[in-house]
Amino acid sequence: MSAYDVIIIGSGPGGYVCAIRCAQLGLKTAVVEGRDTLGGTCLNVGCIPSKALLHASHMLHEAEHNFAAMGLKGKTPSVDWKQMLSYKTETIGQNTKGIEFLFKKNKVDWLKGWGSIPEAGKVKVGDETHDAKHIIIASGSEVSTLPGVEIDEKTVVSSTGALELSKVPNKLVVIGAGVIGLELGSVYKRLGAEVKVIEFLDAITPGMDAEIAKTFQRTLKKQGLEFQLGAAVQSVDTKGGKAKVTYKLRKDDSEHVEDADIVLVATGRRPFTDGLGLEALGVGISERGQIKTDGHYATSVKGIYAIGDCIDGPMLAHKAEDEGMAIAEILAGQKGHVSYGVIPGVIYTHPEVANVGATEEQLKEAGTAYKVGKFSFMGNGRAKANFAGDGFVKILADKSTDRILGAHIIGPMAGDLIHEICVAMEFGAAAEDLARTCHAHPTYSEAVREAALACGDGPIHS
Ligand code: NAI
Repeated sequence: MSAYDVIIIGSGPGGYVCAIRCAQLGLKTAVVEGRDTLGGTCLNVGCIPSKALLHASHMLHEAEHNFAAMGLKGKTPSVDWKQMLSYKTETIGQNTKGIEFLFKKNKVDWLKGWGSIPEAGKVKVGDETHDAKHIIIASGSEVSTLPGVEIDEKTVVSSTGALELSKVPNKLVVIGAGVIGLELGSVYKRLGAEVKVIEFLDAITPGMDAEIAKTFQRTLKKQGLEFQLGAAVQSVDTKGGKAKVTYKLRKDDSEHVEDADIVLVATGRRPFTDGLGLEALGVGISERGQIKTDGHYATSVKGIYAIGDCIDGPMLAHKAEDEGMAIAEILAGQKGHVSYGVIPGVIYTHPEVANVGATEEQLKEAGTAYKVGKFSFMGNGRAKANFAGDGFVKILADKSTDRILGAHIIGPMAGDLIHEICVAMEFGAAAEDLARTCHAHPTYSEAVREAALACGDGPIHS
Protein backbone atom coordinates (compact mmCIF):
# COMPACT_ATOMS: atom_id res chain seq x y z
CA MET A 1 0.00 0.00 0.00
CA SER A 2 1.18 3.48 -0.79
CA ALA A 3 -0.11 6.93 0.00
CA TYR A 4 -0.60 9.55 -2.69
CA ASP A 5 -1.75 13.14 -2.87
CA VAL A 6 -3.77 12.24 -5.96
CA ILE A 7 -4.95 9.00 -7.52
CA ILE A 8 -6.58 9.30 -10.92
CA ILE A 9 -8.78 6.50 -12.23
CA GLY A 10 -8.34 6.21 -15.99
CA SER A 11 -5.42 7.10 -18.25
CA GLY A 12 -7.26 8.61 -21.23
CA PRO A 13 -6.53 12.20 -22.31
CA GLY A 14 -8.33 13.50 -19.19
CA GLY A 15 -6.52 11.23 -16.75
CA TYR A 16 -3.00 11.20 -18.13
CA VAL A 17 -2.84 14.96 -18.73
CA CYS A 18 -4.20 15.54 -15.25
CA ALA A 19 -1.55 13.21 -13.79
CA ILE A 20 1.32 14.96 -15.52
CA ARG A 21 0.08 18.38 -14.44
CA CYS A 22 -0.42 17.17 -10.83
CA ALA A 23 3.14 15.84 -10.80
CA GLN A 24 4.50 19.05 -12.31
CA LEU A 25 2.79 20.95 -9.50
CA GLY A 26 4.49 18.83 -6.86
CA LEU A 27 1.71 16.38 -5.99
CA LYS A 28 2.57 12.70 -5.50
CA THR A 29 0.44 11.11 -8.19
CA ALA A 30 -0.66 7.69 -9.45
CA VAL A 31 -2.94 6.62 -12.27
CA VAL A 32 -5.03 3.45 -12.25
CA GLU A 33 -5.40 1.82 -15.65
CA GLY A 34 -6.68 -1.68 -16.41
CA ARG A 35 -5.85 -1.79 -20.12
CA ASP A 36 -2.48 -3.18 -21.16
CA THR A 37 -1.49 0.23 -22.46
CA LEU A 38 -2.03 3.82 -21.34
CA GLY A 39 -4.06 6.39 -23.26
CA GLY A 40 -7.65 5.20 -22.89
CA THR A 41 -10.16 5.01 -25.72
CA CYS A 42 -8.66 7.96 -27.58
CA LEU A 43 -5.19 6.53 -28.07
CA ASN A 44 -6.02 2.83 -28.20
CA VAL A 45 -9.30 2.55 -30.09
CA GLY A 46 -10.44 6.07 -30.98
CA CYS A 47 -8.90 9.33 -32.11
CA ILE A 48 -5.40 8.14 -32.93
CA PRO A 49 -6.06 4.86 -34.81
CA SER A 50 -8.91 6.43 -36.76
CA LYS A 51 -6.65 9.28 -37.80
CA ALA A 52 -4.08 6.80 -39.12
CA LEU A 53 -6.76 5.18 -41.31
CA LEU A 54 -8.13 8.57 -42.37
CA HIS A 55 -4.64 9.65 -43.41
CA ALA A 56 -3.86 6.46 -45.33
CA SER A 57 -7.19 6.41 -47.13
CA HIS A 58 -6.86 10.10 -47.97
CA MET A 59 -3.47 9.43 -49.54
CA LEU A 60 -5.11 6.76 -51.71
CA HIS A 61 -7.84 9.20 -52.69
CA GLU A 62 -5.21 11.79 -53.67
CA ALA A 63 -3.36 9.21 -55.76
CA GLU A 64 -6.55 8.11 -57.50
CA HIS A 65 -8.01 11.54 -58.12
CA ASN A 66 -5.31 14.21 -58.20
CA PHE A 67 -1.90 12.71 -58.94
CA ALA A 68 -2.30 12.51 -62.71
CA ALA A 69 -3.42 16.13 -62.95
CA MET A 70 -0.28 17.19 -61.07
CA GLY A 71 1.90 15.27 -63.50
CA LEU A 72 2.42 12.30 -61.22
CA LYS A 73 1.83 9.39 -63.53
CA GLY A 74 2.14 5.67 -62.97
CA LYS A 75 0.45 2.85 -61.15
CA THR A 76 -2.15 3.94 -58.60
CA PRO A 77 -1.47 2.22 -55.24
CA SER A 78 -3.74 -0.65 -54.22
CA VAL A 79 -4.84 -1.35 -50.65
CA ASP A 80 -2.76 -3.76 -48.55
CA TRP A 81 -5.21 -3.88 -45.65
CA LYS A 82 -2.96 -5.92 -43.39
CA GLN A 83 -0.15 -3.40 -43.78
CA MET A 84 -2.56 -0.51 -43.22
CA LEU A 85 -3.66 -2.12 -39.96
CA SER A 86 -0.04 -2.59 -38.86
CA TYR A 87 0.67 1.06 -39.66
CA LYS A 88 -2.31 1.92 -37.47
CA THR A 89 -1.13 -0.41 -34.67
CA GLU A 90 2.37 1.04 -34.80
CA THR A 91 0.95 4.56 -34.55
CA ILE A 92 -1.00 3.55 -31.45
CA GLY A 93 2.12 1.96 -29.92
CA GLN A 94 4.24 5.06 -30.45
CA ASN A 95 1.63 7.18 -28.69
CA THR A 96 0.86 4.87 -25.76
CA LYS A 97 4.59 4.29 -25.12
CA GLY A 98 5.03 8.05 -25.26
CA ILE A 99 2.70 8.40 -22.27
CA GLU A 100 4.56 5.68 -20.37
CA PHE A 101 7.73 7.66 -20.96
CA LEU A 102 6.08 10.88 -19.77
CA PHE A 103 4.84 9.12 -16.62
CA LYS A 104 8.36 7.95 -15.81
CA LYS A 105 9.81 11.37 -16.57
CA ASN A 106 7.29 13.05 -14.26
CA LYS A 107 7.40 10.28 -11.61
CA VAL A 108 3.74 9.34 -12.01
CA ASP A 109 3.06 5.76 -10.85
CA TRP A 110 0.94 3.47 -13.01
CA LEU A 111 -1.20 1.22 -10.78
CA LYS A 112 -2.06 -1.62 -13.17
CA GLY A 113 -5.55 -3.03 -12.89
CA TRP A 114 -9.16 -1.85 -12.61
CA GLY A 115 -9.76 0.48 -9.69
CA SER A 116 -12.64 0.93 -7.32
CA ILE A 117 -13.28 3.32 -4.46
CA PRO A 118 -14.21 1.44 -1.28
CA GLU A 119 -14.41 4.72 0.65
CA ALA A 120 -13.33 8.33 0.22
CA GLY A 121 -9.55 8.52 0.49
CA LYS A 122 -8.97 4.93 -0.67
CA VAL A 123 -8.58 3.30 -4.09
CA LYS A 124 -8.50 -0.46 -4.47
CA VAL A 125 -6.59 -1.99 -7.37
CA GLY A 126 -6.50 -5.79 -7.39
CA ASP A 127 -5.66 -6.90 -3.83
CA GLU A 128 -4.03 -3.63 -2.87
CA THR A 129 -5.64 -0.57 -1.39
CA HIS A 130 -3.92 2.79 -1.73
CA ASP A 131 -4.50 5.97 0.23
CA ALA A 132 -5.15 9.19 -1.63
CA LYS A 133 -5.95 12.66 -0.34
CA HIS A 134 -7.78 13.33 -3.59
CA ILE A 135 -9.35 10.87 -6.03
CA ILE A 136 -10.13 11.94 -9.56
CA ILE A 137 -12.42 9.81 -11.69
CA ALA A 138 -11.51 10.03 -15.38
CA SER A 139 -13.10 6.75 -16.44
CA GLY A 140 -14.40 7.98 -19.79
CA SER A 141 -17.25 6.62 -21.84
CA GLU A 142 -18.42 3.51 -23.67
CA VAL A 143 -20.45 2.88 -26.81
CA SER A 144 -24.16 3.24 -26.33
CA THR A 145 -26.08 0.94 -28.64
CA LEU A 146 -29.73 0.84 -29.69
CA PRO A 147 -32.46 -1.48 -28.50
CA GLY A 148 -32.68 -4.36 -31.01
CA VAL A 149 -29.05 -3.97 -32.03
CA GLU A 150 -26.43 -6.23 -30.54
CA ILE A 151 -22.80 -5.39 -31.15
CA ASP A 152 -20.67 -8.52 -31.75
CA GLU A 153 -17.62 -6.53 -32.99
CA LYS A 154 -17.48 -8.81 -36.06
CA THR A 155 -20.50 -8.13 -38.28
CA VAL A 156 -22.13 -5.48 -36.12
CA VAL A 157 -19.34 -3.28 -34.86
CA SER A 158 -18.75 -0.21 -32.74
CA SER A 159 -15.92 2.16 -33.63
CA THR A 160 -13.58 -0.30 -31.86
CA GLY A 161 -14.45 -3.20 -34.17
CA ALA A 162 -14.53 -0.89 -37.19
CA LEU A 163 -10.82 -0.21 -36.66
CA GLU A 164 -10.03 -3.94 -36.78
CA LEU A 165 -12.12 -5.38 -39.62
CA SER A 166 -10.64 -8.50 -41.19
CA LYS A 167 -11.06 -6.93 -44.65
CA VAL A 168 -12.55 -3.91 -46.34
CA PRO A 169 -16.27 -4.72 -46.60
CA ASN A 170 -18.17 -4.58 -49.89
CA LYS A 171 -21.08 -2.87 -48.21
CA LEU A 172 -20.98 -0.94 -44.94
CA VAL A 173 -24.13 0.39 -43.31
CA VAL A 174 -23.48 3.09 -40.73
CA ILE A 175 -26.13 3.82 -38.13
CA GLY A 176 -25.81 7.46 -37.05
CA ALA A 177 -24.51 10.41 -39.07
CA GLY A 178 -22.45 11.82 -36.20
CA VAL A 179 -18.70 12.24 -35.92
CA ILE A 180 -17.75 8.55 -35.72
CA GLY A 181 -20.13 7.43 -38.48
CA LEU A 182 -18.90 10.02 -40.94
CA GLU A 183 -15.18 9.71 -40.17
CA LEU A 184 -15.14 5.93 -40.43
CA GLY A 185 -17.75 5.87 -43.21
CA SER A 186 -15.51 8.06 -45.33
CA VAL A 187 -12.47 5.88 -44.59
CA TYR A 188 -14.21 2.77 -45.93
CA LYS A 189 -15.74 4.64 -48.86
CA ARG A 190 -12.28 5.72 -49.95
CA LEU A 191 -10.99 2.17 -49.52
CA GLY A 192 -13.64 0.94 -51.95
CA ALA A 193 -16.69 -0.03 -49.86
CA GLU A 194 -20.24 0.97 -50.69
CA VAL A 195 -21.32 3.07 -47.68
CA LYS A 196 -24.85 3.93 -46.62
CA VAL A 197 -25.47 6.10 -43.58
CA ILE A 198 -28.82 5.84 -41.81
CA GLU A 199 -29.65 8.81 -39.57
CA PHE A 200 -32.62 9.37 -37.28
CA LEU A 201 -32.75 13.15 -37.70
CA ASP A 202 -33.36 15.09 -40.92
CA ALA A 203 -29.82 16.44 -41.07
CA ILE A 204 -26.37 15.05 -40.44
CA THR A 205 -24.16 16.04 -37.47
CA PRO A 206 -26.79 17.38 -35.07
CA GLY A 207 -25.85 20.66 -33.41
CA MET A 208 -23.57 21.77 -36.22
CA ASP A 209 -24.18 25.11 -37.95
CA ALA A 210 -26.89 24.17 -40.48
CA GLU A 211 -25.23 25.81 -43.50
CA ILE A 212 -22.01 23.92 -42.84
CA ALA A 213 -23.89 20.65 -42.25
CA LYS A 214 -25.66 21.03 -45.61
CA THR A 215 -22.41 21.71 -47.47
CA PHE A 216 -20.76 18.83 -45.59
CA GLN A 217 -23.48 16.39 -46.60
CA ARG A 218 -23.28 17.55 -50.24
CA THR A 219 -19.51 17.06 -50.20
CA LEU A 220 -19.76 13.57 -48.71
CA LYS A 221 -22.44 12.65 -51.26
CA LYS A 222 -20.09 13.77 -54.03
CA GLN A 223 -17.52 11.41 -52.54
CA GLY A 224 -20.04 8.59 -52.90
CA LEU A 225 -21.53 8.21 -49.42
CA GLU A 226 -25.26 7.53 -49.50
CA PHE A 227 -27.61 8.94 -46.87
CA GLN A 228 -30.98 7.90 -45.54
CA LEU A 229 -32.10 10.65 -43.21
CA GLY A 230 -35.21 10.70 -41.02
CA ALA A 231 -34.96 6.97 -40.42
CA ALA A 232 -35.18 5.13 -37.11
CA VAL A 233 -33.31 1.84 -37.04
CA GLN A 234 -35.50 -0.89 -35.55
CA SER A 235 -33.23 -3.91 -35.55
CA VAL A 236 -30.16 -5.53 -37.03
CA ASP A 237 -30.27 -9.26 -37.79
CA THR A 238 -27.18 -11.24 -38.58
CA LYS A 239 -26.92 -14.56 -40.36
CA GLY A 240 -23.91 -16.27 -41.92
CA GLY A 241 -21.66 -13.25 -41.38
CA LYS A 242 -24.05 -10.83 -43.13
CA ALA A 243 -26.52 -8.36 -41.69
CA LYS A 244 -29.94 -6.93 -42.43
CA VAL A 245 -30.76 -3.52 -41.04
CA THR A 246 -34.46 -2.77 -40.62
CA TYR A 247 -35.48 0.88 -40.31
CA LYS A 248 -38.67 2.91 -40.41
CA LEU A 249 -38.97 6.26 -42.16
CA ARG A 250 -40.23 8.77 -39.65
CA LYS A 251 -42.32 10.68 -42.23
CA ASP A 252 -44.65 7.77 -43.16
CA ASP A 253 -43.70 4.90 -40.84
CA SER A 254 -42.83 2.71 -43.84
CA GLU A 255 -40.43 -0.14 -43.10
CA HIS A 256 -37.28 -0.80 -45.15
CA VAL A 257 -34.46 -3.30 -45.05
CA GLU A 258 -30.84 -2.67 -45.99
CA ASP A 259 -28.36 -5.53 -46.52
CA ALA A 260 -24.81 -5.11 -45.25
CA ASP A 261 -21.55 -7.00 -44.83
CA ILE A 262 -20.72 -4.84 -41.84
CA VAL A 263 -22.91 -2.57 -39.73
CA LEU A 264 -21.24 0.23 -37.77
CA VAL A 265 -23.24 1.41 -34.79
CA ALA A 266 -22.31 5.07 -34.20
CA THR A 267 -25.25 6.40 -32.23
CA GLY A 268 -23.32 8.01 -29.42
CA ARG A 269 -21.48 7.14 -26.23
CA ARG A 270 -22.43 7.10 -22.56
CA PRO A 271 -20.38 7.62 -19.39
CA PHE A 272 -18.48 4.55 -18.21
CA THR A 273 -18.44 4.24 -14.42
CA ASP A 274 -19.02 0.49 -13.92
CA GLY A 275 -17.28 -1.16 -11.00
CA LEU A 276 -16.13 2.04 -9.31
CA GLY A 277 -18.57 1.60 -6.44
CA LEU A 278 -20.09 5.06 -6.86
CA GLU A 279 -23.57 4.10 -5.77
CA ALA A 280 -22.40 2.69 -2.43
CA LEU A 281 -20.32 5.83 -1.89
CA GLY A 282 -23.30 8.05 -2.56
CA VAL A 283 -21.71 9.91 -5.49
CA GLY A 284 -24.48 11.79 -7.30
CA ILE A 285 -25.24 10.54 -10.82
CA SER A 286 -27.51 12.30 -13.33
CA GLU A 287 -30.32 10.62 -15.28
CA ARG A 288 -27.95 10.37 -18.25
CA GLY A 289 -25.44 8.44 -16.15
CA GLN A 290 -23.03 11.35 -15.78
CA ILE A 291 -21.25 11.95 -12.48
CA LYS A 292 -22.59 15.20 -11.07
CA THR A 293 -19.93 17.78 -10.29
CA ASP A 294 -19.82 21.40 -9.16
CA GLY A 295 -17.98 24.13 -11.05
CA HIS A 296 -14.70 22.81 -9.64
CA TYR A 297 -15.17 19.13 -10.58
CA ALA A 298 -16.04 18.10 -7.01
CA THR A 299 -18.61 15.30 -6.73
CA SER A 300 -21.10 15.08 -3.88
CA VAL A 301 -18.51 13.12 -1.84
CA LYS A 302 -15.66 15.13 -0.32
CA GLY A 303 -12.25 14.34 -1.81
CA ILE A 304 -13.68 12.71 -4.96
CA TYR A 305 -13.63 14.60 -8.24
CA ALA A 306 -14.56 13.73 -11.82
CA ILE A 307 -13.55 15.01 -15.27
CA GLY A 308 -13.97 14.19 -18.96
CA ASP A 309 -16.55 12.03 -20.72
CA CYS A 310 -18.03 10.74 -17.44
CA ILE A 311 -19.29 14.24 -16.50
CA ASP A 312 -21.43 16.81 -18.31
CA GLY A 313 -20.29 18.51 -21.54
CA PRO A 314 -19.04 17.47 -24.96
CA MET A 315 -17.32 14.08 -25.09
CA LEU A 316 -14.09 15.38 -26.53
CA ALA A 317 -10.53 14.42 -25.66
CA HIS A 318 -9.35 18.02 -25.48
CA LYS A 319 -12.23 19.04 -23.19
CA ALA A 320 -11.15 16.22 -20.85
CA GLU A 321 -7.50 17.35 -21.06
CA ASP A 322 -8.39 20.90 -20.14
CA GLU A 323 -10.48 19.70 -17.22
CA GLY A 324 -7.56 17.49 -16.15
CA MET A 325 -5.24 20.48 -16.06
CA ALA A 326 -7.80 22.65 -14.30
CA ILE A 327 -8.47 20.18 -11.46
CA ALA A 328 -4.73 19.60 -11.00
CA GLU A 329 -4.24 23.34 -10.62
CA ILE A 330 -7.19 23.64 -8.25
CA LEU A 331 -5.84 20.82 -6.04
CA ALA A 332 -2.42 22.50 -6.03
CA GLY A 333 -4.01 25.69 -4.73
CA GLN A 334 -4.09 27.55 -8.03
CA LYS A 335 -7.05 28.85 -10.02
CA GLY A 336 -7.74 26.14 -12.62
CA HIS A 337 -10.29 27.12 -15.21
CA VAL A 338 -11.81 25.81 -18.46
CA SER A 339 -13.25 28.24 -20.97
CA TYR A 340 -16.27 26.19 -22.04
CA GLY A 341 -17.40 28.74 -24.64
CA VAL A 342 -14.19 28.24 -26.61
CA ILE A 343 -13.88 24.48 -27.07
CA PRO A 344 -13.33 23.63 -30.71
CA GLY A 345 -14.92 20.62 -32.39
CA VAL A 346 -13.34 18.93 -35.39
CA ILE A 347 -14.45 16.20 -37.78
CA TYR A 348 -11.41 14.72 -39.46
CA THR A 349 -12.91 13.86 -42.82
CA HIS A 350 -11.59 15.37 -46.05
CA PRO A 351 -12.34 18.18 -46.17
CA GLU A 352 -12.21 18.67 -42.41
CA VAL A 353 -14.99 20.41 -40.55
CA ALA A 354 -14.30 22.55 -37.49
CA ASN A 355 -16.28 24.82 -35.25
CA VAL A 356 -16.01 26.96 -32.16
CA GLY A 357 -18.54 29.06 -30.28
CA ALA A 358 -22.10 29.77 -31.36
CA THR A 359 -23.86 28.55 -34.50
CA GLU A 360 -26.09 30.86 -36.51
CA GLU A 361 -29.11 28.95 -35.24
CA GLN A 362 -28.07 29.50 -31.61
CA LEU A 363 -27.58 33.23 -32.16
CA LYS A 364 -31.00 33.52 -33.82
CA GLU A 365 -32.62 31.66 -30.98
CA ALA A 366 -30.93 33.89 -28.41
CA GLY A 367 -32.05 36.98 -30.34
CA THR A 368 -28.45 38.20 -30.71
CA ALA A 369 -27.86 40.74 -33.47
CA TYR A 370 -24.97 39.29 -35.50
CA LYS A 371 -23.20 39.60 -38.81
CA VAL A 372 -21.69 36.91 -40.99
CA GLY A 373 -18.34 37.04 -42.75
CA LYS A 374 -17.77 34.24 -45.25
CA PHE A 375 -14.95 33.32 -47.56
CA SER A 376 -14.72 30.41 -49.98
CA PHE A 377 -11.52 28.39 -50.31
CA MET A 378 -12.00 28.83 -54.09
CA GLY A 379 -10.59 32.32 -53.56
CA ASN A 380 -7.53 30.99 -51.74
CA GLY A 381 -4.50 30.46 -53.97
CA ARG A 382 -2.93 27.73 -51.86
CA ALA A 383 -6.18 25.74 -51.70
CA LYS A 384 -6.62 25.94 -55.46
CA ALA A 385 -3.08 24.68 -56.06
CA ASN A 386 -3.73 21.74 -53.73
CA PHE A 387 -7.14 20.71 -55.20
CA ALA A 388 -8.66 21.82 -51.90
CA GLY A 389 -10.95 24.64 -53.00
CA ASP A 390 -14.13 23.00 -51.66
CA GLY A 391 -15.54 24.66 -48.58
CA PHE A 392 -15.52 27.98 -46.79
CA VAL A 393 -14.80 29.85 -43.56
CA LYS A 394 -17.70 31.50 -41.78
CA ILE A 395 -17.20 33.91 -38.90
CA LEU A 396 -20.09 35.14 -36.80
CA ALA A 397 -19.54 38.44 -35.02
CA ASP A 398 -21.66 40.69 -32.83
CA LYS A 399 -23.38 43.25 -35.05
CA SER A 400 -22.59 46.25 -32.91
CA THR A 401 -19.33 45.37 -31.12
CA ASP A 402 -17.76 43.18 -33.86
CA ARG A 403 -16.71 40.68 -31.16
CA ILE A 404 -16.30 37.16 -32.59
CA LEU A 405 -19.09 34.89 -31.34
CA GLY A 406 -18.44 31.75 -33.34
CA ALA A 407 -16.67 30.31 -36.36
CA HIS A 408 -17.33 27.38 -38.66
CA ILE A 409 -14.99 26.02 -41.27
CA ILE A 410 -15.32 23.30 -43.85
CA GLY A 411 -12.19 22.96 -45.91
CA PRO A 412 -8.52 21.98 -45.92
CA MET A 413 -6.88 21.80 -42.48
CA ALA A 414 -10.04 23.25 -40.89
CA GLY A 415 -9.10 21.51 -37.63
CA ASP A 416 -5.89 23.53 -37.47
CA LEU A 417 -7.25 26.79 -38.87
CA ILE A 418 -9.93 26.99 -36.19
CA HIS A 419 -7.35 27.62 -33.50
CA GLU A 420 -6.42 31.14 -34.49
CA ILE A 421 -10.09 31.97 -34.05
CA CYS A 422 -10.12 30.16 -30.68
CA VAL A 423 -7.19 32.29 -29.51
CA ALA A 424 -8.91 35.42 -30.81
CA MET A 425 -12.09 34.48 -28.92
CA GLU A 426 -10.12 33.76 -25.72
CA PHE A 427 -8.81 37.31 -25.92
CA GLY A 428 -12.29 38.70 -26.63
CA ALA A 429 -11.14 39.84 -30.06
CA ALA A 430 -13.23 41.58 -32.69
CA ALA A 431 -13.32 40.30 -36.26
CA GLU A 432 -11.37 43.43 -37.16
CA ASP A 433 -8.50 42.28 -34.93
CA LEU A 434 -8.17 39.14 -37.05
CA ALA A 435 -8.62 41.10 -40.25
CA ARG A 436 -5.80 43.49 -39.30
CA THR A 437 -3.39 40.66 -38.43
CA CYS A 438 -0.87 40.01 -41.19
CA HIS A 439 -1.27 36.47 -42.56
CA ALA A 440 1.49 34.82 -44.55
CA HIS A 441 0.86 34.26 -48.25
CA PRO A 442 0.12 31.74 -49.62
CA THR A 443 -1.53 29.86 -46.72
CA TYR A 444 -4.94 28.39 -45.99
CA SER A 445 -5.03 30.76 -43.00
CA GLU A 446 -5.57 33.67 -45.35
CA ALA A 447 -9.11 32.35 -45.83
CA VAL A 448 -9.72 32.96 -42.11
CA ARG A 449 -8.49 36.52 -42.44
CA GLU A 450 -10.65 37.07 -45.52
CA ALA A 451 -13.72 35.83 -43.61
CA ALA A 452 -12.83 38.31 -40.87
CA LEU A 453 -12.52 41.04 -43.52
CA ALA A 454 -15.94 39.96 -44.78
CA CYS A 455 -17.35 40.94 -41.38
CA GLY A 456 -16.20 44.50 -42.14
CA ASP A 457 -15.57 46.27 -45.46
CA GLY A 458 -15.29 43.04 -47.44
CA PRO A 459 -12.76 40.42 -48.45
CA ILE A 460 -10.17 41.09 -51.15
CA HIS A 461 -10.31 37.87 -53.16
CA SER A 462 -14.00 37.35 -53.84
P1 NAI B 1 -22.79 11.45 -32.14
O1 NAI B 1 -23.58 11.84 -30.97
O2 NAI B 1 -21.79 12.37 -32.75
O3 NAI B 1 -23.80 11.02 -33.33
C1 NAI B 1 -24.77 10.00 -33.18
C2 NAI B 1 -25.76 10.09 -34.30
O4 NAI B 1 -26.61 8.95 -34.27
C3 NAI B 1 -26.68 11.31 -34.19
O5 NAI B 1 -26.67 11.99 -35.42
C4 NAI B 1 -28.03 10.69 -33.85
O6 NAI B 1 -29.10 11.46 -34.32
C5 NAI B 1 -27.93 9.34 -34.55
N1 NAI B 1 -28.87 8.31 -34.05
C6 NAI B 1 -29.21 8.07 -32.77
N2 NAI B 1 -30.11 7.05 -32.71
C7 NAI B 1 -30.34 6.63 -34.00
C8 NAI B 1 -31.18 5.63 -34.60
N3 NAI B 1 -31.96 4.84 -33.88
N4 NAI B 1 -31.16 5.48 -35.93
C9 NAI B 1 -30.39 6.30 -36.69
N5 NAI B 1 -29.58 7.26 -36.18
C10 NAI B 1 -29.55 7.44 -34.85
O7 NAI B 1 -22.13 10.06 -31.70
P2 NAI B 1 -20.89 9.25 -32.29
O8 NAI B 1 -20.61 9.63 -33.70
O9 NAI B 1 -21.18 7.83 -31.97
O10 NAI B 1 -19.68 9.76 -31.40
C11 NAI B 1 -19.68 9.52 -29.99
C12 NAI B 1 -18.91 10.58 -29.25
O11 NAI B 1 -17.55 10.51 -29.55
C13 NAI B 1 -19.40 11.96 -29.59
O12 NAI B 1 -19.58 12.66 -28.40
C14 NAI B 1 -18.27 12.54 -30.40
O13 NAI B 1 -18.16 13.94 -30.19
C15 NAI B 1 -17.06 11.78 -29.90
N6 NAI B 1 -16.09 11.68 -30.99
C16 NAI B 1 -15.42 12.79 -31.37
C17 NAI B 1 -14.55 12.75 -32.43
C18 NAI B 1 -13.89 13.99 -32.87
O14 NAI B 1 -13.87 14.95 -32.12
N7 NAI B 1 -13.33 14.04 -34.08
C19 NAI B 1 -14.30 11.51 -33.17
C20 NAI B 1 -15.09 10.42 -32.70
C21 NAI B 1 -15.93 10.52 -31.64
